Amino acid sequence: MCGIVGYVGSKSADNILLNGLKRLEYRGYDSAGMAIVEDGHISTRRAKGRVTELEQILAEQPLKSTMGIAHTRWATHGKPSVKNAHPHVDASGRLALVHNGIIENHRSIRSLLEGKGIAFQSDTDTESLVQLIGYFYKESGDLTGSLQRALRDVQGTFGIALICADQPGRIIGARRGSPLIVGVGDGEFVIASDGSAIVEHTSQVIFLKDNEMVELSDGRYEISTMDAEPIQAQVDTLELTLEEIEIGSHEHYMHKEIFEQPQSLANCLAGRLDLQAGEVVLGGLSEVQREIANCKRVLLFACGTAWHAGLVGEYLFEELSFTPAEVEYSSELRYRNPIIEEGTIGIVLSQSGETADSLAALREIKRKGATVFGIVNVVGSSIARETDAGVYLHVGPEIGVASTKAFTAQVAVLTMMAIDMGRRRYLSHARAEELLKELHQIPGKVEKVLALEDQIRKITAKYVDRNNWLYLGRGVNYPVALEGALKLKEISYIHAEGMPAAEMKHGPIALIDEDMPVVVVAPKDHTYDKVLSNIEEVHTRQGRIIAIATEGDTRLSELAEEVIYVPQTSPLLSPLVTTIPLQLMAYHAALMRGQNVDKPRNLAKSVTVE
Ligand code: AGP
Ligand code: GLU
Repeated sequence: MCGIVGYVGSKSADNILLNGLKRLEYRGYDSAGMAIVEDGHISTRRAKGRVTELEQILAEQPLKSTMGIAHTRWATHGKPSVKNAHPHVDASGRLALVHNGIIENHRSIRSLLEGKGIAFQSDTDTESLVQLIGYFYKESGDLTGSLQRALRDVQGTFGIALICADQPGRIIGARRGSPLIVGVGDGEFVIASDGSAIVEHTSQVIFLKDNEMVELSDGRYEISTMDAEPIQAQVDTLELTLEEIEIGSHEHYMHKEIFEQPQSLANCLAGRLDLQAGEVVLGGLSEVQREIANCKRVLLFACGTAWHAGLVGEYLFEELSFTPAEVEYSSELRYRNPIIEEGTIGIVLSQSGETADSLAALREIKRKGATVFGIVNVVGSSIARETDAGVYLHVGPEIGVASTKAFTAQVAVLTMMAIDMGRRRYLSHARAEELLKELHQIPGKVEKVLALEDQIRKITAKYVDRNNWLYLGRGVNYPVALEGALKLKEISYIHAEGMPAAEMKHGPIALIDEDMPVVVVAPKDHTYDKVLSNIEEVHTRQGRIIAIATEGDTRLSELAEEVIYVPQTSPLLSPLVTTIPLQLMAYHAALMRGQNVDKPRNLAKSVTVE
């Protein structure tokens, strides 16, 4: 994915665009650029690396205009470099374009245009699009028509903003498969990939839908289909505040979001637990009660951390709602031939609501007749809008690339959904009431685990120089082991592998020696004694054991080098507390290794490309 921002109005555009890029930088940060129209020409500035590199160039060579477009890139085609940075300009030099997505038929377009004598300047797929628009524009002089024609010819996904030297004060945007939002100000507009670049200018926004385009000029906006059919768009109010996206006193967004979890979980649960009635109140599912009552199978799907939450959900739905459940990777589900019988409910989990594979999988199983619920954080996101119903996380924006508060909220929502469905089946009032009361206490228990940060940091320091870690867990804590391993990998670049504790004996045990830290998630539950045996097996081979245990468990301290105690809770709810130490271990390991915690290499916050 990447970050797109455009401005047209009466203010100086450069700082608005630069600050917009900084707000969007979590979406991609390998290069950045800006383009404006001045004195009848397109002027661009581009830089490899972070937005601050572009800022330095602009300080020396400013761009002065009241309109412009800008981009911070997450490369898919063409390595990060100045020449591959956006905006890209067509051969005539009259058009400049920024793009989020992938132009899949870029090679055929490029060879067609090169055959007509058009010289390309970059290795990107994006340049094929701007050159194609320029090719049509040179023929017709009709900018909108040229864009529409080119967008009909390209295959793949796009969110774009386009400017033209012949039409200063005008920006055209269009989207198919990548997000684009228009902020409607007082005589000014900000068009961007998400609300974080808009919120400080206006709260009035229009969420463009797929195959829609918008023309911004002279204080007016026009929205239409790609066939120029006018559309009366709805203006929504952005559910985002500046405070939510500010880093505050924390050194990193990830640290802020880890420590937000008592509050974010409380917000996620607020108004949704009726403890006396032993009921769950999920407003977003009020229109689909019949589908829930008739559900015969739950098909969860997601990517990355959201998939780990989905795996917890698999156990929860089977245990609490007595319904067959399976979790699938979105990228696999969309290309399998999933058999969707009547009574199948799909549940898509996505923090950003823009992950391309999850959006495509959602469309695929809807096409086959499934009812699909969403568990999404970003309000108004593409996935949220395309599901039949859903439950928002309500945890506020998650800026750190490594997902933390979204994971615990996804697990909390899945727990509520499983109880809700269970209460329509065989889950007793008493059992439901007991679980909901436990769930209500989870934010306080998370607070207690966060207080162990110093101990967790010291433990991490002992093993941070090891280059291979193993994470083990059983039942609902097997996904926690996977999540802990992913956190460590993606921000500290230490290789880590999570697996079911018993599986370690079927091969990976060969890896274990005195150099290998083995994190074992071992709360008191029905598999505890079995996990204990696995710990013995690791101990026998001199593995360095870091155990996540239930407060008061003295047996583990005899076997493990390190024990981190978490408060006792219902076993099914234990992922909500056992995950927290693993998040902090990954955070501190990344810091100790000098890595960029919030913007880890090669990653982006939401993968809106395939
Ligand atoms: C998790 O820390 C990563 N950022 C990544 O695995 C992420 O969970 C995945 O890309 C899914 O994103 P989504 O929840 O926005 O769909
Ligand atoms: N595919 C385009 C490129 O590689 C856009 C990538 C993005 O979405 O940032 O430049």
